[in-house]
Amino acid sequence: MHRLIGCALAPLLLFGRAATPAERPAGQPGFDASRGRALYSANCSACHGEDGAGQPGTFPPLKGSRVVTKDDATKHMQVVLEGMQGAKAGGVRYATPMPSFAASLDDADITDIIDYERSAWGNHGKPVTVAEVGAARVKSKLHTH
Ligand code: HEC
Repeated sequence: MHRLIGCALAPLLLFGRAATPAERPAGQPGFDASRGRALYSANCSACHGEDGAGQPGTFPPLKGSRVVTKDDATKHMQVVLEGMQGAKAGGVRYATPMPSFAASLDDADITDIIDYERSAWGNHGKPVTVAEVGAARVKSKLHTH
């Protein structure tokens, strides 16, 4: 487990924020899988697990999650940007809230994380683009405070 986290973080430490939105134009297909994995490890794995399995009853699994595997990624982008509280995930109600990442991650970060989740652990969700995450961010600002 510890070794896995070390490996996943290495590219982040070595390359830092190499792929900025400016270097990767909005709408360009594809994502940086190793960057997505490193960002997932740093921001999400403490709750959802390196294996995406979550913790039964405490944190929902992302492996096989309908939100993560559905072609329409509206809800997936919204949850990461705005967080989530008191809602049901996969039919289970969780007492712990999911934090909002709009302030700490930029559109390229969120795109790489979401596309990593959509392609890891046997998931096959349609990937999102930086432009789609940017549009979701604008929408989320309209109905958050
Ligand atoms: C502090 C723990 C925690 C962290 C860190 C966290 N989450 Fe969550 N996440 C949760 C909880 C708890 C829920 C369910 C909340 C609810 O049902 O109200 C959730 C729900 C979700 C869902 C919806 C799952 C479903 O099937 O409905 C997605 C997608 C998600 N998180 C992605 C992420 C991503 C991406 C990150 C990192 C950028 C992240 N989470 C970081 C705790 C966390």
